[in-house]
Amino acid sequence: MANSRIYESGRDSLSPNRNLSPITTELDSQDRLKIGGCLLSELALRYQTPLYVLDEVTIRTSCKAYKDALEKYYPGESLPLYASKANSSLAMSSIVNSEGFGLDAVSEGELMTAIKGGIDSSKIVLHGNNKSEKELNLAYTNGVTIVIDNQHDIDKLKSLVSSNKEPARLMLRFTPGIECHTHDYIKTGHLDSKFGFDLDNLEKILIQLKDAKWSNLIGLHAHIGSQIFELQPHKDLVGVMIDALKLARGIGHPIEDLNVGGGLGVRYVEADDPPSIDQWINTVATAVKESCEEKQVKLPRLLCEPGRSLVATSGVTLYKLGSRKEIPGIRTYFSVDGGMSDNPRPITYQSLYKACLVDRPLDPPVQTVTIAGKHCESGDILIKNLPLPICTSGEFLVVFGTGAYNFSMSSNYNRIPRPAAVLVHSGHVDLVQQREQPEDLLRYDVLPNRLLELG
Ligand SMILES: Cc1ncc(COP(=O)(O)O)c(C=O)c1O
Repeated sequence: MANSRIYESGRDSLSPNRNLSPITTELDSQDRLKIGGCLLSELALRYQTPLYVLDEVTIRTSCKAYKDALEKYYPGESLPLYASKANSSLAMSSIVNSEGFGLDAVSEGELMTAIKGGIDSSKIVLHGNNKSEKELNLAYTNGVTIVIDNQHDIDKLKSLVSSNKEPARLMLRFTPGIECHTHDYIKTGHLDSKFGFDLDNLEKILIQLKDAKWSNLIGLHAHIGSQIFELQPHKDLVGVMIDALKLARGIGHPIEDLNVGGGLGVRYVEADDPPSIDQWINTVATAVKESCEEKQVKLPRLLCEPGRSLVATSGVTLYKLGSRKEIPGIRTYFSVDGGMSDNPRPITYQSLYKACLVDRPLDPPVQTVTIAGKHCESGDILIKNLPLPICTSGEFLVVFGTGAYNFSMSSNYNRIPRPAAVLVHSGHVDLVQQREQPEDLLRYDVLPNRLLELG
């Protein structure tokens, strides 16, 4: 039941994905939790709960770890892209931009957030397995690289880019046929995946694109999944990709970019032991270098798309404890003022999280409680069997590791407004996402006069 590791921040200060909490996590003189120099209970009181808190130092440290490792291990050019699906906002776009990252977007919304957040269009790629004409047009007119995923993309782009205009800058995504151990919903590289061209069809598609005046195919892309702890699948991926690169160049495409996707896992609970960012980049970069030497292929520019490993550990969510229900001999539920609408991962993937009281993290646990969300779903459980000291309604709880795929996957289920988000740094706090209000949710409702008249 010992609680002492929950707020541990210094396990690997160079690779935040290996820690349970942001790397600036500390205790004040009264043993209360601080992140980014800010007392969590003060943030909760000032900005209300639920509240997403992002630690800027942790995000920037992760960015630097990717940049430094690429420089250290890869002899050619490289460009890391932030997979903005993990947490898309103007603030995140601006931070990663200032760290020299490009960005991967998958929708008009993510694309606009990147451009308005200051990312140069030449460093943005647009993904998606069912892109709309509007999305393709926005990307094309802004000079964003479009990752073609299927024949539908090709057909749409062909009619969009008339022959007298600049050809579209393209990357081609294919399914590499690589299995990795992660949740089925976040596997993407195996044959039965909705993403990308089948490896078997790759040559045919490359030949089809060869003489297309509207197309300028400059890159190849593959992504095998997310929250992956093994290095070998990424090594295997590189082998398949270098064969594809050789094939594409042989057909006559001026391929410069090799984009190996993202996927590096993070530590949500003690049992998680992901590789460091340095180890991941070393594996990928060395594999590209060796495979190119062996297959006599000119080194491509190396691109990767980390999402989770860049931002998950930097984020925590603050909740207020509310109602308590004890079922003797079975379970004690403690409900919080958020749940599956601000963090859908537990109900979607059965994901595990660590949490503790913000002002009493060192108090020895004496009970096991289940932290329930406030939504009308029995499955809306954030954490099962969490060891806690005796606690009362109104105390604040912090859940760690919520920086990725929480805000970006949030919903308004039960018409619950989305939480605010703040960015903390050296004792300063900036609001980066305003709290939604119930009136915001009604803004798009239309009550037809006919229904009003019916009374
Ligand atoms: C194409 C693509 N690139 C990058 C990522 C980011 O993956 P992760 O957050 O695991 O780094 C994803 C997410 O699954 C993705 O689909």
